[in-house]
Amino acid sequence: MELLKPSPANDERADLVAKIETHSATVGVVGIGYVGLPLAVEKAKVGFPVVGFDRNPLRVNQVAQGLNYIRDVDDDELAAVVYNGRLSATTDFSRLGTCDVIVICVPTPLTKNLDPDISYIKHVGEAIAGQLRPGQLICLESTTYPGTTEEVLLPLLAATGLVVGRDYFLAFSPERVDPGNKRYTTRNTNKVVGGVTPVCLDVAAAFYQQTIFDVLRVSSPRVAEMTKVFENTFRAVNIALVNEMALLCDRLKVNIWDVIDAAATKPFGIMRFDPGPGVGGHCIPLDPFYLAWKAREFDFHVRFIELAGEINIAMPYFVRDKILRALNEQGKPLKDARILAIGVAYKKDIEDWRESPAVKVLDLLEREGARVDYHDPFVPSFQEDDGKLRHSVPLTKDVLKGSDCVVVLTDHTTIDWQTIVDHAVAVVDTRNATRAVRDGRDNVVLL
Ligand SMILES: NC(=O)c1ccc[n+]([C@@H]2O[C@H](COP(=O)([O-])OP(=O)(O)OC[C@H]3O[C@@H](n4cnc5c(N)ncnc54)[C@H](O)[C@@H]3O)[C@@H](O)[C@H]2O)c1
Repeated sequence: MELLKPSPANDERADLVAKIETHSATVGVVGIGYVGLPLAVEKAKVGFPVVGFDRNPLRVNQVAQGLNYIRDVDDDELAAVVYNGRLSATTDFSRLGTCDVIVICVPTPLTKNLDPDISYIKHVGEAIAGQLRPGQLICLESTTYPGTTEEVLLPLLAATGLVVGRDYFLAFSPERVDPGNKRYTTRNTNKVVGGVTPVCLDVAAAFYQQTIFDVLRVSSPRVAEMTKVFENTFRAVNIALVNEMALLCDRLKVNIWDVIDAAATKPFGIMRFDPGPGVGGHCIPLDPFYLAWKAREFDFHVRFIELAGEINIAMPYFVRDKILRALNEQGKPLKDARILAIGVAYKKDIEDWRESPAVKVLDLLEREGARVDYHDPFVPSFQEDDGKLRHSVPLTKDVLKGSDCVVVLTDHTTIDWQTIVDHAVAVVDTRNATRAVRDGRDNVVLL
């Protein structure tokens, strides 16, 4: 790392920190989705002038009108910061130069071959480099493999001739938002920050401390990047473990849910994870593969990640087979059977169906000739990659009675499980959502 000589340009740090501490720094949030919009609103709420940048004009227009599209954001809070002029949005990336702080929250998907697609980060990095000026802080929040900040973003910015840690500041700070979690929000979830230089770390920590109670400084962006993928790998592996136990319990005819409930009573040495139809969302199914990809560059094979991926990816197939067996009990084939899926969101009480295992279950059933409908109060409709558009059907007694099997894929809290059990011919419950239904549950099969 280059040793920075004291120079007048070091005033950039003092000036920027002063702007941050007085909340007069203009904050640009690039990518105003599940991560970016809550962050933009939190910053605007404490007085920062915030500009959301997105290449999707629909989102930009919605923000400009104070219209909310992310459930974790409060409608009134968004409207208030838009109407008082603190939050605006634009597709005009030439305005990046007006921002003192730029936070990058763009997607980091996988390619079809499960390799990281960091093209979004690169595009944004190029756009920022085109506008970079002294006195800016750039923070990457998108989940990615260890090394991205220093290997991808830093060279783009360094090519401008400006010196990191002196003229501008660069850091990585992973977003830990848990969509739908009412207890832990952007504000009270502690935040890990790693700077490219110690000065970068100081400036980035000063920025996050304005809205987050607990900011943890780590020694480098790499440590912060690795922390995030480790957290998600931890979940992926533990979910796979409990899913594998569910597969075994199915063979042994042991109720996995009773086992988990009992094990969870141990006051130490165990952490509860529940089985289900697979893993979904933008993090758990994807992020571990970022690490697996990076590991290969170092001749390292991350076996736990591969194994967890294998088990979790197989779960929708197991659910299909459970439905097949439930129909078999009625002497019905899966072909032409009417199946009603409850829930397509990847977890309860949210509207996000990206990478949802429920969608995979629907597709697998249809491949076998089943006629599939779904009901999800959070997802009125959705369109799959192949263009297929699906609409949620109303959850009526007739719809329940007219289905050969109801499969519970998401345990939204607003759903009346008693009514489902009372009127469905057969229920395959992959979430133990019907646990509170005590009577008349002979038609229920658990995962
Ligand atoms: N959703 C979560 O729960 C969650 C949690 C933690 C971390 N993350 C990570 O945060 C990042 C963002 O995820 P998200 O869920 O907010 O994604 P999202 O799809 O909800 O939002 C991303 C936004 O970026 C915009 N965008 C795409 N390319 C752009 C570009 N070149 N310039 C400007 N805007 C662009 C998209 O239009 C979209 O509005 C990902 O790396 C993800 O892994 C997500």
